[in-house]
Amino acid sequence: MKIKKVEFITSSSSFQETEKITSKPEYAFIGRSNVGKSSLINMLTNSSLAKTSSNPGKTQLINHYLVNESWFLVDLPGYGYAKASKKQRENFKVFSKEYLMKSSQLRCIFLLIDARIKPQKIDVNFMSWLGENNLPFIRLFSKIDKLNTEKIKNMIGEQNIELLNYWESPPPYILFSSKKKIGREEILNKIEEFNKLKHL
Ligand code: GTP
Ligand code: MG
Repeated sequence: MKIKKVEFITSSSSFQETEKITSKPEYAFIGRSNVGKSSLINMLTNSSLAKTSSNPGKTQLINHYLVNESWFLVDLPGYGYAKASKKQRENFKVFSKEYLMKSSQLRCIFLLIDARIKPQKIDVNFMSWLGENNLPFIRLFSKIDKLNTEKIKNMIGEQNIELLNYWESPPPYILFSSKKKIGREEILNKIEEFNKLKHL
């Protein structure tokens, strides 16, 4: 899929605010803070519209980016970083989760997981929460430019084994690196497939 146009539409601080804009398919990016969600949105859109930072907790609102005037990429605040204030944790719980549960336009959630570290309880729990709420998601392993093929293979194997405690089969995944522009076509192709479907 070609990206011809991308526009930042708005930042929302509640699910109710997002309802005003949502009339087209949406794809949400979620995961631990600093995992690379905003960088991925920039990589996919060949832009630098999403603000990134080496300090976790940069994205604090629900940000909608309209692509090709026909679908939205949605950048969400991350979860699970030690220095988050009580308010930031509440924000995540209240509006990111509420948005994910209630958005009628959400076609697929992309859950970013840092490929460099072992399966984190917080990610495994979050996947369980998505499963319990019947929310379709794809695991996106980020920052694979930092690893060699063997390490990547081991990491996926280890995580899949862990997930088999909770899932009949491990949820699908894609490997990517925003830095090296790996995985871009695969992610955009997925979005294109979902765009063609009418509902979740
Ligand atoms: P929050 O908004 O705080 O939740 O973080 P985020 O998930 O949006 O992360 P962000 O995109 O701001 O990136 C965090 C850090 O990771 C930055 O220092 C990026 O430069 C770095 N980073 C992002 N993607 C990659 C990647 O593909 N490879 C490498 N090596 N570093 C990356
Ligand atoms: Mg961010």
